Amino acid sequence: MSPPNAIRVQIPATTANLGPGFDCLGLALGLYNTVELSVSAITEVHVTGEGAGQLPLSEANLVLRAANKLAAEAGINVPGWRLRQHNDIPLARGLGSSSAAIVGGLVATNELLGAEITTGGLLQLAAQIEGHPDNVAPALYGGLTVCGIEQEQVYCAPLPAPQSLAVVLAIPDFEVSTEMARRVLPDEVPFADAVFNTSHAAMALAALVSENWNLLGAAMKDRLHQPYRAELMPGMEEVIAAAVEAGAYGAALSGSGPTVVAFAGEEDSAVAEAMVQAFKARNIQVRTVWTSVSNQGATVLSE
Ligand code: HSE
Repeated sequence: MSPPNAIRVQIPATTANLGPGFDCLGLALGLYNTVELSVSAITEVHVTGEGAGQLPLSEANLVLRAANKLAAEAGINVPGWRLRQHNDIPLARGLGSSSAAIVGGLVATNELLGAEITTGGLLQLAAQIEGHPDNVAPALYGGLTVCGIEQEQVYCAPLPAPQSLAVVLAIPDFEVSTEMARRVLPDEVPFADAVFNTSHAAMALAALVSENWNLLGAAMKDRLHQPYRAELMPGMEEVIAAAVEAGAYGAALSGSGPTVVAFAGEEDSAVAEAMVQAFKARNIQVRTVWTSVSNQGATVLSE
Protein backbone atom coordinates (compact mmCIF):
# COMPACT_ATOMS: atom_id res chain seq x y z
CA MET A 1 0.00 0.00 0.00
CA SER A 2 1.24 3.48 -0.83
CA PRO A 3 1.29 6.07 1.96
CA PRO A 4 -1.49 8.60 1.26
CA ASN A 5 0.94 11.46 0.64
CA ALA A 6 3.28 9.47 -1.67
CA ILE A 7 4.21 11.03 -5.01
CA ARG A 8 4.68 8.75 -8.02
CA VAL A 9 6.72 9.84 -10.99
CA GLN A 10 7.31 8.08 -14.30
CA ILE A 11 10.60 8.87 -16.08
CA PRO A 12 11.64 7.86 -19.61
CA ALA A 13 14.80 6.12 -20.75
CA THR A 14 16.99 8.26 -22.97
CA THR A 15 19.53 7.86 -25.72
CA ALA A 16 22.20 10.56 -25.77
CA ASN A 17 24.86 11.72 -28.26
CA LEU A 18 23.04 10.24 -31.32
CA GLY A 19 26.48 9.76 -32.84
CA PRO A 20 28.08 13.19 -33.28
CA GLY A 21 26.19 15.20 -30.61
CA PHE A 22 28.47 14.30 -27.72
CA ASP A 23 27.13 15.70 -24.38
CA CYS A 24 24.63 17.76 -26.40
CA LEU A 25 21.84 15.82 -28.18
CA GLY A 26 19.36 13.50 -26.46
CA LEU A 27 16.05 11.76 -27.11
CA ALA A 28 13.49 10.37 -24.69
CA LEU A 29 12.36 6.78 -25.38
CA GLY A 30 9.13 4.92 -24.67
CA LEU A 31 10.59 2.82 -21.85
CA TYR A 32 10.06 4.00 -18.25
CA ASN A 33 11.07 3.75 -14.60
CA THR A 34 8.74 4.69 -11.77
CA VAL A 35 9.62 6.13 -8.37
CA GLU A 36 7.21 6.52 -5.48
CA LEU A 37 8.47 8.76 -2.71
CA SER A 38 7.18 9.93 0.64
CA VAL A 39 8.69 11.40 3.80
CA SER A 40 9.27 8.91 6.59
CA ALA A 41 10.81 8.77 10.09
CA ILE A 42 13.42 6.30 8.88
CA THR A 43 14.71 5.66 5.38
CA GLU A 44 13.34 2.58 3.67
CA VAL A 45 14.09 1.65 0.02
CA HIS A 46 12.47 -1.04 -2.11
CA VAL A 47 13.66 -1.74 -5.68
CA THR A 48 11.97 -4.01 -8.22
CA GLY A 49 12.82 -4.73 -11.85
CA GLU A 50 16.21 -3.80 -13.30
CA GLY A 51 18.83 -3.27 -10.60
CA ALA A 52 16.92 -5.10 -7.84
CA GLY A 53 19.54 -6.64 -5.54
CA GLN A 54 22.18 -4.34 -7.03
CA LEU A 55 21.09 -0.77 -6.30
CA PRO A 56 21.72 0.59 -2.78
CA LEU A 57 18.80 0.41 -0.35
CA SER A 58 20.08 3.40 1.62
CA GLU A 59 20.49 7.13 1.13
CA ALA A 60 23.34 6.24 -1.25
CA ASN A 61 20.57 5.36 -3.74
CA LEU A 62 20.75 7.91 -6.55
CA VAL A 63 17.03 8.76 -6.28
CA LEU A 64 17.57 9.73 -2.64
CA ARG A 65 20.83 11.58 -3.33
CA ALA A 66 18.82 13.74 -5.72
CA ALA A 67 15.96 14.04 -3.19
CA ASN A 68 18.39 15.17 -0.48
CA LYS A 69 20.01 17.69 -2.83
CA LEU A 70 16.66 19.25 -3.65
CA ALA A 71 15.58 19.30 0.02
CA ALA A 72 18.86 21.02 0.96
CA GLU A 73 18.42 23.50 -1.90
CA ALA A 74 14.90 24.29 -0.66
CA GLY A 75 16.16 24.56 2.96
CA ILE A 76 13.80 21.79 4.14
CA ASN A 77 14.93 19.22 6.68
CA VAL A 78 13.59 15.72 5.97
CA PRO A 79 14.07 12.97 8.62
CA GLY A 80 14.03 10.10 6.12
CA TRP A 81 12.43 8.79 2.94
CA ARG A 82 10.25 5.91 1.89
CA LEU A 83 11.18 5.02 -1.70
CA ARG A 84 9.71 2.41 -4.00
CA GLN A 85 11.49 2.20 -7.31
CA HIS A 86 10.41 0.07 -10.25
CA ASN A 87 12.87 -0.02 -13.13
CA ASP A 88 12.34 -1.12 -16.72
CA ILE A 89 15.50 0.70 -17.91
CA PRO A 90 18.54 -1.62 -17.87
CA LEU A 91 21.45 -0.40 -15.74
CA ALA A 92 24.79 0.85 -17.09
CA ARG A 93 23.87 0.20 -20.73
CA GLY A 94 23.79 3.78 -22.06
CA LEU A 95 20.02 4.17 -21.72
CA GLY A 96 19.91 6.85 -19.05
CA SER A 97 19.13 4.74 -15.97
CA SER A 98 21.08 7.05 -13.67
CA SER A 99 19.47 10.14 -15.23
CA ALA A 100 16.04 8.60 -14.70
CA ALA A 101 16.90 8.03 -11.02
CA ILE A 102 18.15 11.60 -10.59
CA VAL A 103 15.27 13.23 -12.44
CA GLY A 104 12.72 10.99 -10.67
CA GLY A 105 14.17 11.95 -7.27
CA LEU A 106 14.16 15.65 -8.08
CA VAL A 107 10.67 15.82 -9.61
CA ALA A 108 9.10 13.70 -6.85
CA THR A 109 10.76 15.71 -4.07
CA ASN A 110 9.86 19.03 -5.65
CA GLU A 111 6.21 17.95 -5.74
CA LEU A 112 6.27 16.32 -2.30
CA LEU A 113 7.83 19.29 -0.52
CA GLY A 114 5.99 21.93 -2.58
CA ALA A 115 9.41 23.44 -3.30
CA GLU A 116 8.24 25.04 -6.58
CA ILE A 117 11.64 24.78 -8.28
CA THR A 118 11.11 25.44 -12.00
CA THR A 119 11.85 22.79 -14.64
CA GLY A 120 14.89 24.87 -15.66
CA GLY A 121 16.05 24.85 -12.03
CA LEU A 122 15.57 21.08 -11.83
CA LEU A 123 17.67 20.69 -14.98
CA GLN A 124 20.55 22.63 -13.38
CA LEU A 125 20.43 20.41 -10.28
CA ALA A 126 20.16 17.22 -12.35
CA ALA A 127 23.11 18.18 -14.56
CA GLN A 128 25.20 19.02 -11.47
CA ILE A 129 24.58 15.53 -10.08
CA GLU A 130 25.01 13.69 -13.41
CA GLY A 131 27.96 15.77 -14.63
CA HIS A 132 26.55 16.36 -18.14
CA PRO A 133 23.11 17.43 -19.34
CA ASP A 134 22.35 15.32 -22.41
CA ASN A 135 20.55 12.43 -20.64
CA VAL A 136 18.89 14.33 -17.81
CA ALA A 137 17.35 16.90 -20.20
CA PRO A 138 15.24 14.49 -22.29
CA ALA A 139 14.41 12.53 -19.10
CA LEU A 140 12.96 15.76 -17.70
CA TYR A 141 11.38 17.35 -20.80
CA GLY A 142 10.74 14.36 -23.09
CA GLY A 143 11.23 14.63 -26.86
CA LEU A 144 14.44 15.82 -28.45
CA THR A 145 16.72 18.07 -26.42
CA VAL A 146 19.72 20.16 -27.38
CA CYS A 147 21.93 21.19 -24.46
CA GLY A 148 25.12 23.05 -23.77
CA ILE A 149 26.87 24.49 -20.74
CA GLU A 150 28.04 28.09 -20.70
CA GLN A 151 29.69 29.47 -17.57
CA GLU A 152 28.26 26.63 -15.48
CA GLN A 153 24.74 27.40 -16.69
CA VAL A 154 22.93 24.63 -18.60
CA TYR A 155 21.14 25.90 -21.70
CA CYS A 156 18.51 23.58 -23.16
CA ALA A 157 16.17 23.70 -26.14
CA PRO A 158 13.45 21.05 -25.77
CA LEU A 159 12.00 20.17 -29.19
CA PRO A 160 9.20 17.82 -30.24
CA ALA A 161 10.39 14.33 -31.04
CA PRO A 162 10.04 13.13 -34.62
CA GLN A 163 7.02 10.81 -34.61
CA SER A 164 7.74 8.61 -37.59
CA LEU A 165 10.78 6.84 -36.13
CA ALA A 166 11.03 3.29 -34.89
CA VAL A 167 13.94 2.74 -32.51
CA VAL A 168 15.73 -0.53 -31.93
CA LEU A 169 18.09 -1.02 -29.02
CA ALA A 170 20.66 -3.82 -29.16
CA ILE A 171 21.52 -4.25 -25.49
CA PRO A 172 24.59 -6.45 -24.80
CA ASP A 173 24.75 -8.58 -21.67
CA PHE A 174 27.61 -6.63 -20.11
CA GLU A 175 27.73 -3.28 -18.32
CA VAL A 176 29.96 -0.28 -19.03
CA SER A 177 29.82 2.58 -16.52
CA THR A 178 29.79 6.10 -17.91
CA GLU A 179 32.78 6.84 -15.70
CA MET A 180 34.79 4.08 -17.40
CA ALA A 181 33.60 5.14 -20.86
CA ARG A 182 34.71 8.75 -20.20
CA ARG A 183 38.11 7.66 -18.91
CA VAL A 184 39.13 6.36 -22.34
CA LEU A 185 38.44 9.71 -24.07
CA PRO A 186 41.43 11.82 -25.13
CA ASP A 187 42.25 15.28 -23.74
CA GLU A 188 42.63 16.68 -27.25
CA VAL A 189 41.34 15.78 -30.71
CA PRO A 190 42.61 16.78 -34.17
CA PHE A 191 41.08 20.00 -35.52
CA ALA A 192 39.70 18.10 -38.53
CA ASP A 193 37.79 15.76 -36.20
CA ALA A 194 36.30 18.71 -34.30
CA VAL A 195 35.14 20.22 -37.61
CA PHE A 196 33.75 16.85 -38.69
CA ASN A 197 31.68 16.57 -35.50
CA THR A 198 30.45 20.16 -35.54
CA SER A 199 29.02 19.69 -39.03
CA HIS A 200 27.63 16.23 -38.36
CA ALA A 201 25.93 17.23 -35.09
CA ALA A 202 24.29 20.17 -36.87
CA MET A 203 23.24 17.84 -39.72
CA ALA A 204 21.80 15.31 -37.24
CA LEU A 205 19.76 17.99 -35.49
CA ALA A 206 18.46 19.40 -38.78
CA ALA A 207 17.62 15.88 -39.98
CA LEU A 208 15.63 15.06 -36.84
CA VAL A 209 13.75 18.36 -36.87
CA SER A 210 12.91 18.20 -40.59
CA GLU A 211 12.47 14.40 -40.59
CA ASN A 212 15.00 14.12 -43.39
CA TRP A 213 16.12 10.52 -42.98
CA ASN A 214 18.70 10.53 -45.79
CA LEU A 215 20.43 13.38 -44.02
CA LEU A 216 20.20 11.53 -40.68
CA GLY A 217 21.98 8.55 -42.24
CA ALA A 218 24.82 10.76 -43.43
CA ALA A 219 24.92 12.66 -40.12
CA MET A 220 25.18 9.83 -37.61
CA LYS A 221 28.95 9.51 -37.75
CA ASP A 222 31.28 10.45 -34.95
CA ARG A 223 34.97 11.08 -34.38
CA LEU A 224 34.93 12.42 -30.81
CA HIS A 225 33.98 9.44 -28.66
CA GLN A 226 32.92 6.27 -30.49
CA PRO A 227 36.35 5.42 -31.96
CA TYR A 228 37.96 5.76 -28.51
CA ARG A 229 35.24 3.71 -26.82
CA ALA A 230 35.44 0.84 -29.32
CA GLU A 231 38.08 -0.91 -27.19
CA LEU A 232 35.53 -1.22 -24.32
CA MET A 233 32.76 -2.41 -26.60
CA PRO A 234 33.88 -5.17 -28.93
CA GLY A 235 31.68 -5.32 -32.03
CA MET A 236 30.27 -1.80 -31.70
CA GLU A 237 31.50 -0.60 -35.09
CA GLU A 238 30.36 -3.79 -36.86
CA VAL A 239 26.93 -3.60 -35.20
CA ILE A 240 26.45 0.02 -36.33
CA ALA A 241 27.50 -0.90 -39.87
CA ALA A 242 25.27 -4.02 -39.88
CA ALA A 243 22.20 -2.01 -38.83
CA VAL A 244 22.70 0.50 -41.65
CA GLU A 245 23.47 -2.26 -44.15
CA ALA A 246 20.18 -3.97 -43.17
CA GLY A 247 18.20 -0.81 -43.86
CA ALA A 248 18.34 1.41 -40.73
CA TYR A 249 18.44 5.16 -41.39
CA GLY A 250 21.36 5.47 -38.99
CA ALA A 251 22.87 3.90 -35.88
CA ALA A 252 25.19 4.91 -33.07
CA LEU A 253 26.46 4.03 -29.64
CA SER A 254 23.63 4.92 -27.22
CA GLY A 255 25.03 7.40 -24.69
CA SER A 256 28.27 5.99 -23.35
CA GLY A 257 27.25 2.45 -24.40
CA PRO A 258 27.40 -0.47 -24.64
CA THR A 259 23.88 -0.45 -26.22
CA VAL A 260 23.76 0.37 -29.92
CA VAL A 261 20.70 2.34 -31.04
CA ALA A 262 19.37 2.28 -34.61
CA PHE A 263 16.57 4.29 -36.20
CA ALA A 264 14.24 2.96 -38.89
CA GLY A 265 10.95 3.91 -40.53
CA GLU A 266 9.12 0.99 -38.93
CA GLU A 267 9.88 -2.09 -36.85
CA ASP A 268 12.04 -4.18 -39.15
CA SER A 269 13.22 -7.56 -37.91
CA ALA A 270 16.04 -7.60 -40.49
CA VAL A 271 17.68 -4.61 -38.78
CA ALA A 272 17.43 -6.14 -35.31
CA GLU A 273 18.65 -9.54 -36.53
CA ALA A 274 21.65 -7.99 -38.31
CA MET A 275 22.66 -6.25 -35.07
CA VAL A 276 22.28 -9.47 -33.05
CA GLN A 277 24.39 -11.43 -35.55
CA ALA A 278 27.14 -8.78 -35.57
CA PHE A 279 27.37 -8.90 -31.76
CA LYS A 280 27.21 -12.72 -31.82
CA ALA A 281 30.18 -12.81 -34.21
CA ARG A 282 32.13 -11.37 -31.27
CA ASN A 283 30.60 -13.92 -28.85
CA ILE A 284 28.46 -11.26 -27.20
CA GLN A 285 24.93 -12.14 -26.11
CA VAL A 286 22.48 -9.37 -26.79
CA ARG A 287 18.77 -8.68 -26.54
CA THR A 288 16.88 -6.31 -28.80
CA VAL A 289 14.05 -4.00 -27.78
CA TRP A 290 11.91 -2.02 -30.19
CA THR A 291 10.64 1.25 -28.80
CA SER A 292 9.64 4.70 -29.98
CA VAL A 293 10.74 8.25 -29.37
CA SER A 294 8.59 9.74 -26.61
CA ASN A 295 7.40 13.27 -26.02
CA GLN A 296 6.62 12.39 -22.42
CA GLY A 297 9.22 13.63 -19.97
CA ALA A 298 9.13 12.97 -16.21
CA THR A 299 5.45 12.93 -15.23
CA VAL A 300 3.80 13.02 -11.83
CA LEU A 301 1.21 10.25 -11.90
CA SER A 302 -2.13 10.62 -10.25
CA GLU A 303 -3.47 7.43 -8.66
N1 HSE B 1 27.30 12.19 -23.23
C1 HSE B 1 27.55 11.22 -22.21
C2 HSE B 1 28.74 10.36 -22.63
C3 HSE B 1 26.33 10.37 -22.05
O1 HSE B 1 28.76 9.94 -23.76
O2 HSE B 1 29.64 10.16 -21.81
C4 HSE B 1 26.44 9.36 -20.96
O3 HSE B 1 25.32 8.51 -21.00
